[in-house]
Amino acid sequence: MARLTVTTRAGITRTVEGGADLSVMEVMRDAGFDELLALCGGCCSCATCHVHVAPEWAARLPTMSADEDDLLDSAADRDVTSRLSCQLRFNDDLEGLAVRIAAED
Ligand code: FES
Repeated sequence: MARLTVTTRAGITRTVEGGADLSVMEVMRDAGFDELLALCGGCCSCATCHVHVAPEWAARLPTMSADEDDLLDSAADRDVTSRLSCQLRFNDDLEGLAVRIAAED
């Protein structure tokens, strides 16, 4: 199992483990990070699973789809590290990924 480090809006950081068949959003949800609303359940239609990845990870992640890109445009604090966590499969290639939950829109 790969490890994922998550920082909450309050600045609390915790490392959790996740299965390869899950998205980053699902790993966070299963670990109890309830401030990540993920209202659409991973259908890429809400942007409430917005996270900022650690800068060193931004270029290492799979390229985002046009749908993810369009949806992130609706997020107030989008930057170059922004991703929708439901669109990232949490496989072993992402071992050690660090994310910060984005501000609430
Ligand atoms: S959970 Fe809705 S876009 Fe990710």
